[in-house]
Amino acid sequence: MDDRLVSFDSTLEDEAIEFSLRPQTLEQYIGQDKVKHNLKVFIEAAKLRNETLDHCLLYGPPGLGKTTLATIIANEMEVQIRTTSGPAIERPGDLAAVLTALEPGDVLFIDEIHRLHRSVEEVLYSAMEDFCLDIVIGKGPSARSVRVDLPPFTLVGATTRVGMLSAPLRDRFGVLSRLEYYTTEQLAEIVERTADVFSIGIEREAAGEVSRRARGTPRVANRLLRRVRDFAQVKGDGFISYGITEMALELLQVDRLGLDHIDHKLLMGIIERFRGGPVGVETIAASIGEESHTIEDVYEPYLLQIGFLQRTPRGRIVTPHTYEHFGMQVPE
Ligand SMILES: Nc1ncnc2c1ncn2[C@@H]1O[C@H](COP(=O)(O)OP(=O)(O)OP(=O)(O)O)[C@@H](O)[C@H]1O
Ligand SMILES: [Mg+2]
Repeated sequence: MDDRLVSFDSTLEDEAIEFSLRPQTLEQYIGQDKVKHNLKVFIEAAKLRNETLDHCLLYGPPGLGKTTLATIIANEMEVQIRTTSGPAIERPGDLAAVLTALEPGDVLFIDEIHRLHRSVEEVLYSAMEDFCLDIVIGKGPSARSVRVDLPPFTLVGATTRVGMLSAPLRDRFGVLSRLEYYTTEQLAEIVERTADVFSIGIEREAAGEVSRRARGTPRVANRLLRRVRDFAQVKGDGFISYGITEMALELLQVDRLGLDHIDHKLLMGIIERFRGGPVGVETIAASIGEESHTIEDVYEPYLLQIGFLQRTPRGRIVTPHTYEHFGMQVPE
């Protein structure tokens, strides 16, 4: 876990606050229009037929609203949600305990579903398909298999790594929803809503500025807003003006595109030491004193997304955008 202000992963502080910031209905959930529209239809249809909703898989980068959406699905279906996660279910017996405790129609939310143990996953197949469990009781020659019926339920799985899901598991979901990065306008709406929940005033341009630097991610937007709010309260009268926001973000070292000192170090490292690349990720890692998998999993995705970095067969290269962002001459 890293402690960058622009990190996509949630911190303890995020978790404490996100709970109260989570929208409760599809109506309040901003953006992701395609996903929202489809879900709305499926939910309405399931309710009309008095059936459970098909199993849903929500996937996409951290902080885009997967957990939030799972809660909303349960709310809209007017059922309870039980929450667990892939790594928390260690043995098939743990899964059986969770499944047999469900009430008819409940949503079972499994976060980080790509981290389910293979043996647990196999038990999940029949539970998803036929709402039953085949459990082996006893050991050795006296072992026998018993079938246990389950109440009908909706499995909602969330993952940041859909590629790591096995095909048989993925195929058992009726609804696959991929969450996308948010536009600045959508993030601004989220920021204004959050300010509203905090009962603080915010200037429209201030919400826009926070959003432009939030890396397409509501979690980052809400976190930046909380820090800016601190400045507004200590240095001003609490109102979040554009001026206070600019000053705060400057002091927090989050630049116009949401890049922080680590992004700068990485990009400037490639420019200054390797003439803009191509350079291997291992070499970059060694030159700035980071692990290569941290660079690949944490630092690079956003830089690739905004076109500041490219992966080539010979290594990473920076792009003309990168030079321009730093006010440097683009080499020919
Ligand atoms: N569409 C949205 N509208 C309003 N707020 C949102 C939206 N999506 C996410 N948020 C806010 O962002 C925060 C983070 O969202 P959430 O925890 O659902 O992300 P996640 O995709 O589950 O992340 P992770 O992959 O780390 O589990 C929520 O607390 C919520 O306040
Ligand atoms: Mg989550």
